[in-house]
Amino acid sequence: MSADTALPPVIAIDGPSASGKGTIAAAVARQLGFHYLDSGVLYRIVGLAGTERGANLDDDAQMSRIALNLNIKFDDGRVWLDHRDVSDLVRDEGAGAAASRVGALPGVRIALMALQRGFRRAPGLVADGRDMASVVFQDAQLKIYLTATAEERAQRRYKQLIDKGHSANITALLQDICARDLRDSTRVAAPLQKCADAVEIDTTGTPADAVVAQVLRLYQKHQKQQKTQ
Ligand code: C5P
Repeated sequence: MSADTALPPVIAIDGPSASGKGTIAAAVARQLGFHYLDSGVLYRIVGLAGTERGANLDDDAQMSRIALNLNIKFDDGRVWLDHRDVSDLVRDEGAGAAASRVGALPGVRIALMALQRGFRRAPGLVADGRDMASVVFQDAQLKIYLTATAEERAQRRYKQLIDKGHSANITALLQDICARDLRDSTRVAAPLQKCADAVEIDTTGTPADAVVAQVLRLYQKHQKQQKTQ
C-alpha cells in the first residue's frame, strides 16, 4: 500500500495514439509485479459492441447503456465479450476509430469509470490511456505523458500491422493518427492533455527498454521521497 493514499499505488501513463503507452505500461507493470489496465481496450470494446449491434456510435444514451452492461472478461492477456474472444478484433483500425468516437461521449466515460477503478488492486496498478492522470486516477503516485512525432507513431503502427500479417498503408495510417489526435485532444469530455504534474517523455527515436528504465527510475525516486517524508 502507498503511504500517501492508503490505496494501492498507481502509475498513470497517458499519451496520443501509438505513442508506445501499451508497450511501456505493460513492461513497467511486469517489472514491478503490478496489475495492468489498458483503458483503450474498454473504449474499443464499446465501439465494437455498438458497431456489431447496429447502434448509433454518436448517441450518448444508447452507447452509455451498452457500456454499462458490457459482459467482458480479461484472462491471460485475452479479452472476451459475451463469451467470445475479441482480442484481435478490438485491435484493428476500425475498432480504434469507433473507440475514438464513443470516447467523446461523456456518458460513456462515466459508465466506464467504476470498471477502470476496479483494476486498482494490491500491490499496485499501471494504467494507460488518455485521461488516467487527469480524471480516473487523479491521485496517481506517478504521472507520465508519452509523446512521439506523428510520423514515428505511424511507422510504429505500420510495423505492428505488417508483423501481424495485415496489409497497411503508411499515408492512410498517418492521416488516421492525425485525425485521432485532433478528435482526442479537442473533445469536451476528458480531452487528451498533459497534466501539470505529469512528466513528459518524448519517445521519438528512443528504444522501448530505455523508456521503461526511465519510468522505473522515476517511480523509485518517488518511493524514496515517500520514505523520507
Ligand atoms: O489507446 P487506444 O488507441 O487503444 O485507444 C483507442 C481510442 O479510445 C482513443 O483514440 C481514444 O479516443 C479512446 N480512449 C479514451 N480514453 C482512454 C483510452 C482510450 O478516450 N482512457
